[in-house]
Amino acid sequence: MAPYNLHWGIIATGSISSEFSRDLLVDPSTRGVTDISHSIAAVGSRSVQSAERFIEGLKAAAPSDGWTWGVQKGKLDGVKACGSYHDVYNDPNVDVVYVGTPPSAHHRNVKDALLAGKHVLCEKPFTFDLEELDELLAIAKDKKLFLMEAVWTRFHPLAAEVAALLESGKLGKPQRFSADFSMDWKPDSEPASHRMLNPALGGGSLLDMGPYPSVWAMLLVQRNPHNHDQDPQVVFSHQTVYERTQVDLNSRWLVQWKDLCQGLLLSDLSASGQREATAVLQCEEGDLVIHYPPYKAETFSIIPRPDRFAGAIKEKTTHHHPIAQGNNGLSYEADEVARCLRQGKVESEKMPWAESRIVQGWFDVVRTQGSTPLATIKGTAGQ
Ligand SMILES: NC(=O)c1ccc[n+]([C@@H]2O[C@H](COP(=O)([O-])OP(=O)(O)OC[C@H]3O[C@@H](n4cnc5c(N)ncnc54)[C@H](OP(=O)(O)O)[C@@H]3O)[C@@H](O)[C@H]2O)c1
Repeated sequence: MAPYNLHWGIIATGSISSEFSRDLLVDPSTRGVTDISHSIAAVGSRSVQSAERFIEGLKAAAPSDGWTWGVQKGKLDGVKACGSYHDVYNDPNVDVVYVGTPPSAHHRNVKDALLAGKHVLCEKPFTFDLEELDELLAIAKDKKLFLMEAVWTRFHPLAAEVAALLESGKLGKPQRFSADFSMDWKPDSEPASHRMLNPALGGGSLLDMGPYPSVWAMLLVQRNPHNHDQDPQVVFSHQTVYERTQVDLNSRWLVQWKDLCQGLLLSDLSASGQREATAVLQCEEGDLVIHYPPYKAETFSIIPRPDRFAGAIKEKTTHHHPIAQGNNGLSYEADEVARCLRQGKVESEKMPWAESRIVQGWFDVVRTQGSTPLATIKGTAGQ
């Protein structure tokens, strides 16, 4: 049977849109996928020249580039360069829209795409606040359209292995959790207008990097067979303000899962994360440690507890589950979108709306308890 081919419209021509588009064009069989393929039908930008350059860049793939396959197989044939995002939403050749704009624009872009009748995959953080997200979910539900936050990590090979490990019960009940996404990004050397430093674009470590400690909180604790708390709350939080542009340089927040455990989550723009422990789930029988980087983890270890407090895990083992060569790791989430659409789903079980809502709610608490200008900025819900 011929693979189910999905036609994408790409919104924005920035760096993640470029990586995502390249991954759409990689031969799916290189990651063991034979039932799905992807084409790009339209690219939208605030400037048509930028959309044209973006498409030319894709077409100019060198023989050694992973995405050359798609170019040669005609996956870009007929692709339209659009000088407005609306031209993409209204293009009848587009099945699903990928939104790769800064966080402050996500609500507006996703809403417009849904109202034009398009399914949507939106980059993280899903929205600026929960009110915006709830409005989008209501529209998607009402119009029976697929909508998902592009948390690529959830679809990587390692995520499935870790889920199976937790299901096996080998580690026992969680006792404590921590997760971190930190990088020594050297903000002083970047222009104040950079989207990561600009409050008006939703800049700062919380909204950009916070989704990654949160994804591990969801995968290791929220989805843990021992957890029954569907609404884990932030107990306290702290943000350090970056003086030059007033965004958060770092954020820390503690989450309580009732009758289970607490988790400390961290994001930081000014220090590198720990190489061998980006997320740690300490359990009754031993510890699960996810190695850096949190966004694209390929290795985890299972570690015995200290001798005096020994559990059933007796020796350290390390497990490697790499992303297939030739893609950036974004192909997997695109495959999930295609499979969901093929089955007529509006929501992915691997990245459900309820879990996006929990994380967005945490960000609202941390942001509004902080003292950056983002604490008082209102989202665009209702507009
Ligand atoms: N999944 C991941 O691994 C990953 C990695 C990096 C970023 N992200 C997320 O992806 C989103 C975009 O990040 P990025 O690194 O691609 O950003 P970027 O390189 O700055 O690109 C953002 C694009 O958005 C468009 N845009 C629309 N309104 C804008 C405005 N007011 N100011 C600036 N640009 C505007 C621009 O495209 P046009 O000029 O073509 O309209 C711009 O090129 C963010 O939400 C970020 O958190 C995800």
